[in-house]
Amino acid sequence: MFHYLNGRLHCEQVDLEEIAASVGTPCYVYSAQSILDAWRSYDEAFGDLPHLVCYAVKANSSLAVLAMLARLGSGFDIVSGGELFRVMKAGGDPGKTVFSGVGKTTAEIELALRSGIRNFNCESEGELVEINSIAGRLGVTAQFSLRVNPDVDAVTHPYISTGLRDHKFGIDIAAAVDMYRRARTLLHIRAAGVSCHIGSQILDYSPILEAAGKVLTLIEILQADGIPIRHVDLGGGLGISYQTGEQAPGIRDFITDLRDRIGRAGLTVMVEPGRSIVGPAGVLLTRVLNRKITPSKEFIVVDAAMNDLIRPALYKAHHEIGPLRKAEGKSVMADVVGPVCETGDFLARDREMADVQPGSWLAVSSAGAYGFVQASNYNSRPRGAEVLVEGNRWRVVRSRETYDDLIRGETL
Ligand code: LLP
Repeated sequence: MFHYLNGRLHCEQVDLEEIAASVGTPCYVYSAQSILDAWRSYDEAFGDLPHLVCYAVKANSSLAVLAMLARLGSGFDIVSGGELFRVMKAGGDPGKTVFSGVGKTTAEIELALRSGIRNFNCESEGELVEINSIAGRLGVTAQFSLRVNPDVDAVTHPYISTGLRDHKFGIDIAAAVDMYRRARTLLHIRAAGVSCHIGSQILDYSPILEAAGKVLTLIEILQADGIPIRHVDLGGGLGISYQTGEQAPGIRDFITDLRDRIGRAGLTVMVEPGRSIVGPAGVLLTRVLNRKITPSKEFIVVDAAMNDLIRPALYKAHHEIGPLRKAEGKSVMADVVGPVCETGDFLARDREMADVQPGSWLAVSSAGAYGFVQASNYNSRPRGAEVLVEGNRWRVVRSRETYDDLIRGETL
């Protein structure tokens, strides 16, 4: 959805310079079409197999994005009361919402039960006991899955790998049967499924298929034991291509292979994709402030920083960066850095870049997932605006923060 037309970078049919000039920078821009297409790829690839695509809200929780997906009938995967609040504000259906996460508070569980969410993905026995007691107090029955840890290596960055035995996530798959048995004595919760999520930015999805196989074996044991498991939730994790030459798996191929693996088990299949739906759909626009040469390096100083997009600093993540006006001619080898007072504040290092001059604009690619949601006010920098493009139209879906926003709630 991002392409050069007459030498200018466009999102769908909109010239990104028009947005940068009007809204200012830093600014996130999302392509509605790209998000809708990716979600539909998941949904359609399941065909007539009972399924629910639960978009992982953490990847991009903009109300406008959630509302678009809600209109398609999407489910949602949430990890906090705040995310549930957003889903409901955007018109999402709590009845299609699953609640994941390793630490849920009493208030969050209560909100989720009162809202009528579909399922809790539970990560400890203590959590089961807590949900049972709150459900009892409210006079409802909570449906749950245990998130099991299949001990499969997702082969991704260590900070976003979650399915190995020494990770904080999930319940050892070998201990799960006993825990489901004990849960039968808790009268206000009912086992409905089994879930697992082994990590994020997974470029070779065979570990997810391997995990699915292990989970299916567990489900057979549980069903033989009279525990009526009806769904399997395989989490999210499918990776995207962040750099030229990096091959990302296709959504349709992944789901087709998953169907082959588990399609005959008579279960509703759920997935929780985040990055693969919104990641490629977004760019971060930034303006070049200065060029700077030190004895050993050349720097392009821009107005977006690690507080706007922390992925390069936190995971050494690569994001392609290009000019809004296609540049011909010479290129430079430079670091692209922001104004934040840390050496770790960079968007790219030792990158061959167009010879861009102060005042011109750049687009940081694949920033639709884990971009704005991980932004902060570090260095008292207001968070940037968010814009949604639909065809030849665009609108600000979150305005740039002001200095007053920075001090909201503070007292002298
Ligand atoms: N389900 C669960 C339980 C998760 O923990 C996650 C992501 C997802 C689904 C969605 O995974 P996805 O399809 O987006 O890979 N901040 C990091 C990524 C953290 C992912 C955390 N969990 C980054 O910027 O790469």
